[in-house]
Amino acid sequence: MSQRFTVAVFIVYLLAGLGARSGTSVHAARILGFFPSPSPSHLRIHCAVADALTQAGHNVTVLSSTKNPYKFAKYEYIQLDLPLFPKDFLQRLVKREQPLITRYPHFIDEVTSLANQSLANPRLRHFLATHGVGSFDLLILGYFMNDFHLGLSAHFQVPVVVSFMVQPIFAVHNLVKNPIESAYVPTLFSERKQPLSFWGRVHNFVVATFETNFITLKVERESQKYYDYNFPPDRYPPLEEVRKNVSLVFTNHHFSQGPIRPNVPNLIEIGGIQIKEKPDPLPADIAKILDEAKEGAIYFSLGTNIHGSHLTDEKLKIMFNVVSKLPYKVLWKWNDSERPGQADNIIYREWLPQDDILAHPNIKLFLTHGGMGSVVESQYHGVPMVGIPLFGDQPSNMANVERSGYGLSVDYITLTEESLSTAVQEVLNNPKYRKTVQDFSRLYRDRPMTPRETVVYWVNYVLRHNGAKHMQSPAVHMNRWQLMSLDVIGFLLAIVVAVVAVLVKICRLLCCRGKKEKLADVKVKKSKKNK
Ligand SMILES: *[C@@H]1O[C@H](CO)[C@@H](O)[C@H](O)[C@H]1NC(C)=O
Ligand SMILES: *[C@@H]1O[C@H](CO)[C@@H](O)[C@H](O)[C@H]1NC(C)=O
Ligand SMILES: *[C@@H]1O[C@H](CO)[C@@H](O)[C@H](O)[C@H]1NC(C)=O
Ligand SMILES: *[C@@H]1O[C@H](CO)[C@@H](O)[C@H](O)[C@H]1NC(C)=O
Repeated sequence: MSQRFTVAVFIVYLLAGLGARSGTSVHAARILGFFPSPSPSHLRIHCAVADALTQAGHNVTVLSSTKNPYKFAKYEYIQLDLPLFPKDFLQRLVKREQPLITRYPHFIDEVTSLANQSLANPRLRHFLATHGVGSFDLLILGYFMNDFHLGLSAHFQVPVVVSFMVQPIFAVHNLVKNPIESAYVPTLFSERKQPLSFWGRVHNFVVATFETNFITLKVERESQKYYDYNFPPDRYPPLEEVRKNVSLVFTNHHFSQGPIRPNVPNLIEIGGIQIKEKPDPLPADIAKILDEAKEGAIYFSLGTNIHGSHLTDEKLKIMFNVVSKLPYKVLWKWNDSERPGQADNIIYREWLPQDDILAHPNIKLFLTHGGMGSVVESQYHGVPMVGIPLFGDQPSNMANVERSGYGLSVDYITLTEESLSTAVQEVLNNPKYRKTVQDFSRLYRDRPMTPRETVVYWVNYVLRHNGAKHMQSPAVHMNRWQLMSLDVIGFLLAIVVAVVAVLVKICRLLCCRGKKEKLADVKVKKSKKNK
């Protein structure tokens, strides 16, 4: 009996030791993931975070806009069926009809309004009515200009961790007051080449000023409006208090991708979180095609948001004509009912396991829209790319790919068979692209902890230290004027002005008295003479 007890204690001890070593010596916590993003591709990132925490033994519940991207994940998944990006909205973005100056504000209006609608979802309302303070220990919020959703952390009174799909935009930096260094840190929407040239700095300065003073303020204004509506002040703390409660930001980015920048301690890089460290087996038919394609195969995907109706038939036909003439098998992720044509070498599928396919050694080329997720998976697996960027950060992602030598980019608006075919032939036949991206792949994977281990470590850290507020930048608790030191400069200027005023006064007094005395002297002398 006692022997069995000793064995049991020993096993518990061993397990505890193992747990401590991998940073999981925290009791299973109840974690809520709220991922209301209108773009299914964002869910792949956030749900990967949720999955890592589930695998580490936490009790994770996910509330999400649409279908679970990981069908076999063990977290509890509640699909809210929130509105996704409307079709005409994406069409307008792809056509780039609106000028930049109205495109961004419009984009923010659309995204924040969708985020507001998500809080009216009946399934969510029911969930919030039945779960409150004490139901969870931590909130993970998928961020997409939905600052007012931070109110949920006040609803549950829990620390909040923000998850973001790519390198932070200003609104994300702003949550943890990460410094904006526009002299040497290019924004997500500039070309990510460092060091910046003079003209690069001019461009970056203008973009950064536009983003910090215009976009971020607009996001804040919209957030305030929707926060006040959804989290009324009689029951909830004000938004600016809730905003100060962000414990961590996870960014799906890694410094090896550039740019190099200073980060506050609670901005944690988990670049590549969605990429499986070990690929899953491919579906049998796909595995057969790829295994047999000894001379190589091509993977073609324009992402999860884009369907045939977003593109013109003419451009689609161009793409079809180019790939149908290639002497390689092409796996094309595309809606079955919208095929631009039939060819022996093209295999269409509505859905393909992209990560597992890119991991296959016979893939020679990835034809992509240049979404960040796709670019990173290609980099991770060392597959060269040809990009047809469509909107958002895709053009600058592909510009960065091209500059780094991982592939080439062709413009969608001016796309021709010749431009696409030239790029495809060049990347297929010139070995330098493959070599460069494979070198990067080794660099990108070389880290002290894998992205999944990083997620688990830092979430446990926040749980262990009750929100880990000691990691926050003090800037979080300061206002704009204090951050620009305007109050200090004003104070010092006031001192200088006061000192100068006093000196002037003294001077005047001395001079005047001097004059009066002289006058008085003269008078005295005159009167003496007269006598
Ligand atoms: C937010 O959404 C709700 C429900 O759709 C709507 O009634 C409300 O007017 C919206 N709030 C604002 C500030 O537009
Ligand atoms: C996980 O957490 C949820 C929400 O608090 C709770 O309803 C559920 O019972 C928990 N499950 C387990 C296995 O602890
Ligand atoms: C901030 O987070 C703590 C837990 O870390 C929670 O108790 C508190 O209610 C939160 N405050 C606000 C204003 O959200
Ligand atoms: C495929 O295209 C048809 C027609 O455009 C559309 O109704 C359907 O929803 C699309 N399917 C998917 C999975 O996008």
